[in-house]
Amino acid sequence: MTYQSVKGTKDILPEESPRWQAVENLVREVMELFAYREIRTPIFEETAVFVRSIGEDTDIVGKEMYTFTDKGGTSLTLRPEMTAPVIRAYLQHSLGTGGGVQKLYYMGPMFRQERPQAGRLRQFHQYGAECIGSSSPACDAEIIALAAHVYDRLDIPYVLKINSVGNERCRPRYREALRDFLTRVSERLTGESRRRMHTNPLRVLDSKVPEDIEATAEAPRMLDYLCDECREHFEAVRSHLENLDIPARVEPRLVRGLDYYTKTAFEFASPDLGAQDALGGGGRYDRLVEEFGGDSTPAVGFAAGFERLFIALERRGSRFSGHRLSVYLVGLDEPSRRLCLREALTLRRMGVSADCDFQQRSLKSQMREANKRGAAYTVIIGSEERERGVVTVKDMTTGMQETMELSLFRARFTGEDGGAKPRRD
Ligand code: HAM
Repeated sequence: MTYQSVKGTKDILPEESPRWQAVENLVREVMELFAYREIRTPIFEETAVFVRSIGEDTDIVGKEMYTFTDKGGTSLTLRPEMTAPVIRAYLQHSLGTGGGVQKLYYMGPMFRQERPQAGRLRQFHQYGAECIGSSSPACDAEIIALAAHVYDRLDIPYVLKINSVGNERCRPRYREALRDFLTRVSERLTGESRRRMHTNPLRVLDSKVPEDIEATAEAPRMLDYLCDECREHFEAVRSHLENLDIPARVEPRLVRGLDYYTKTAFEFASPDLGAQDALGGGGRYDRLVEEFGGDSTPAVGFAAGFERLFIALERRGSRFSGHRLSVYLVGLDEPSRRLCLREALTLRRMGVSADCDFQQRSLKSQMREANKRGAAYTVIIGSEERERGVVTVKDMTTGMQETMELSLFRARFTGEDGGAKPRRD
């Protein structure tokens, strides 16, 4: 009997984890540069946390949640996203006391029972940020700048699409106009869109089915129905983005797959991703805190997928590979291997990553291993070196080989040899 990982889930193997760690570290660094602080919430929540916030008639709530009843009879759901849990925690722990703006970030696994394909998994990983407590369009622009900064640092090209989905004052009028339009073209819509046309017509615009997209090509645009407040907000966000040199394309059909948005909605698309082209997305959600029972508190946020970011990196042929081994020690006989083990520990205690062979392999296969592991240096010790009290050091980048005392080699990592410190990544 052999077992396989569950459909739509993936093991992150040792060869891949350095890339994950490197990107996670980069995300943390960027979040902290923008003065966001990390929040970690449980993997599961009471089901109601997601149903009301994301919206009953969305794909996520309607079809994709991993919901189960625990032995105590409580309905629980593996988190499909983080905005709702963050707002739950924000209220539970009164993080808004004092009235300031809370800038929170997170990263971790999310769960949605979607049809798996490239860039679409059932357990996937997001990082994201929520800025809670300000209605300023500058916050929308800052959140977008933060999301963009991660892609810029990784040299990933993107198209930023933005739209406004209005608020509770102007959206009802738009919803009516859209429903009237959809009624006129209902013959051409899929069954699901025909049903949603009554319950939640904006969702029809989010359909990815070609028939629906064609039938709604001439649908009225939310931007033409915005009230003054929403229009001014949208123009202000665009002007801030211009000021920050972030090009944005207005996409009047962009509604996003979650119901909590008000005013700004945005998405980062990658020209390299194909069908699942959304690298990340977000928007403003000024009503959510109130819907969760808190005081009226405006907020804006975004989330982005790690897996899609890796696909984009690969398509660009990026060599972003994260952590590499600094030193691989090669011992040619038993006493040398003992010395290698001792020296590996000395280097590790100095904070230099080091490893050695545990299989008594030949010089050739140990050198091959050092190469495979991406070691910056290989240190070779045999009986001759031991007799002379030296080691042979090979710089794996240049291929240069030299003989020196171990203490001198160590000094390279502390800068005590007076030279430039070698790479330790
Ligand atoms: P979302 O658009 O549902 O937004 O997800 C954000 C990103 O997560 C997507 O753009 C995509 O990169 C990634 N993603 C979503 N589903 C999958 C999947 N099945 N497999 C792989 N990657 C996936 C949200 O989750 C909102 N909470 C964003 C937000 C935060 N809005 C305001 N604050």
